[in-house]
Amino acid sequence: LFAGDWQFFWASPSIESLPPMAGMEVAFAGRSNVGKSSLINALTGRNGLARTSHTPGRTQELIFFEGPENAGFRLVDMPGYGYASAPKAKVASWTALIHKFLQGRSSLARVYVLIDARHGLKDVDLDVLKTLDKSAVSYQLVLTKADQVKRTELDANIAATATALAKHPAAFPEVLVTSSRTGAGMPELRAAMMRLLGE
Ligand code: GTP
Ligand code: MG
Repeated sequence: LFAGDWQFFWASPSIESLPPMAGMEVAFAGRSNVGKSSLINALTGRNGLARTSHTPGRTQELIFFEGPENAGFRLVDMPGYGYASAPKAKVASWTALIHKFLQGRSSLARVYVLIDARHGLKDVDLDVLKTLDKSAVSYQLVLTKADQVKRTELDANIAATATALAKHPAAFPEVLVTSSRTGAGMPELRAAMMRLLGE
């Protein structure tokens, strides 16, 4: 699946313009700049598939990528929530779009909620976890940019995140740790998706 050729499939600026449901979708959610688009590029091995930027607010639509032929698998890049260098009204409309999408999409099989390993869980993340608790979709937390923190700080943030997760029994208890820069955690994340496809 991840050795094949991933391609852009669809972009939705609004909940009214989603592609027809088909197969399985896996979505990546997280605060602006947390590394959602970079993670999709690292997973698929295609730099430049998803557009990235050091400026928060790069991804402004729900972007669907299609896996290799007949795999029936899509990855969904999403706008970020929280602070972005974009007008407040825009950020608010992205946030509404994200929550609507996460609540009502039966082809959505898994959501990865990305958390910056340097900053940990914020209130805006907890809002998204609440939305996910109400939807039937399984979700898991992924720490990103692990290359940017020292081991002791990383361990402390993993422990804090796991503790916070105890209040969210709908979530996977295990927290994945990744770096799109070094490739750390990519085999584990790919394996988790392969298991999902096999279910
Ligand atoms: P928005 O679309 O704006 O919400 O951002 P995003 O979550 O898609 O983040 P994006 O992938 O665009 O990455 C934001 C910045 O973080 C870019 O400058 C990336 O190069 C950087 N970045 C992403 N992942 C990593 C990582 O694992 N390690 C390091 N050091 N930098 C990273
Ligand atoms: Mg992005």
